[in-house]
Amino acid sequence: MGAAIGMEGVYVADTALSLVDGQKGALIYRGHGAKDLALSHSFEEVAHLLLLGQLPEGNKAEIWRSALASKRALTAEEHRLLDALPPNMDMMESLRTGVSALSWDGAMWPPTPEAVATVLARIPTLVAYRWHRLQGTPFIQPRADLSHTANYLYLLTGKEPNPAHVRALDAYLVLTAEHGLNASTFAARVVTSTQSDGLSALTAAIGALKGPLHGGAPAEVEEMLEQIGSSSRAADWLQQRLQNGERLMGFGHRVYRTRDPRAEALREVAQQLASEEPWFELALEVEAEALRLLQQWKPERKLYTNVEFYAAVVLRAVGLPRELYTPTFTVARMAGWCAHILEQAANNRIIRPQSRYVGPLPEKSS
Ligand code: ACO
Repeated sequence: MGAAIGMEGVYVADTALSLVDGQKGALIYRGHGAKDLALSHSFEEVAHLLLLGQLPEGNKAEIWRSALASKRALTAEEHRLLDALPPNMDMMESLRTGVSALSWDGAMWPPTPEAVATVLARIPTLVAYRWHRLQGTPFIQPRADLSHTANYLYLLTGKEPNPAHVRALDAYLVLTAEHGLNASTFAARVVTSTQSDGLSALTAAIGALKGPLHGGAPAEVEEMLEQIGSSSRAADWLQQRLQNGERLMGFGHRVYRTRDPRAEALREVAQQLASEEPWFELALEVEAEALRLLQQWKPERKLYTNVEFYAAVVLRAVGLPRELYTPTFTVARMAGWCAHILEQAANNRIIRPQSRYVGPLPEKSS
């Protein structure tokens, strides 16, 4: 029997964290619909659900929020390390290096919720610190009175965040916090399964996320929309791309054989900001044209819009530059990675698949 190239359809872990139902187009975090969570709960509350097993009730939500907020600042050594990175090191490369050098709260093994929560709380500060360094703008210290999402926007802009932008970005962070055994989460679980430390696992996850087939896609979606420019050019542009053998960014998914529920939800989020984001209309038209062409191109493959298409529209609408799209995905997915690290460590067996050898064998000696 042939190997499952790309591990399609192979199960390597039991998880209670999320169900990605590719046939029905549903995403569930620990028994709660991800879209419902995005409408009614903050990113911190959803992180609590993922890391600790339930949504925080009563005053526990505020206790958890302020516990995370109290961990936001980076140390002077961490600032120095980030300052020493070469100026041509981009944001994701910097995050990969920066996370590997963060201080870790407590024993290296087994990882604890407190230890991973410290990284979760500090990742927005790491993004903002490096961003200001690359822009030559002054870094602003985190504020403990703001939510995780509001503080992230404040750190980047230095301005009191617009509540509509905070709501939209918070919904994005919730919707992209966790997604089964995607490539970056798998990388984190493989590293954890060797009993290596959590920072090594998160470093591997960031390395996997930055690729254009995974978390690097939204910046390319924006570039695509920019190049298309107006809906009258969409059909020719997209057709040309397919004829060149290139993929349309923001479409297709390994698991979903129907619409990605996160794309549906983010389209609604983007619509709420449509008055300040003229690209929303263009995105709708490009999406419709791309779906029509992909249906003709590969009718058997069932290619639909994935999360990254409307992620690009939402992130642009809240004022983030393209270079911060994948770092912002990192801020969100940190919650899922951390939860998977805890889950893997709690019931660990080393992940060690096999490859099917197709090379030559030694010739028999006569
Ligand atoms: N545009 C055009 N053709 C596509 C696309 C696309 N976006 N996606 C898949 N196809 C084609 C492939 O070329 C392939 O054709 P082939 O059989 O002739 O080689 C066929 O559909 C099957 O594709 P696979 O490669 O088997 O799909 P796979 O499950 O391996 O890949 C992936 C999934 C990587 C998401 C793919 O659809 C893709 O490259 N999409 C564009 C990048 C993107 O949007 N990535 C973000 C994904 S969401 C996330 O990671 C958060």
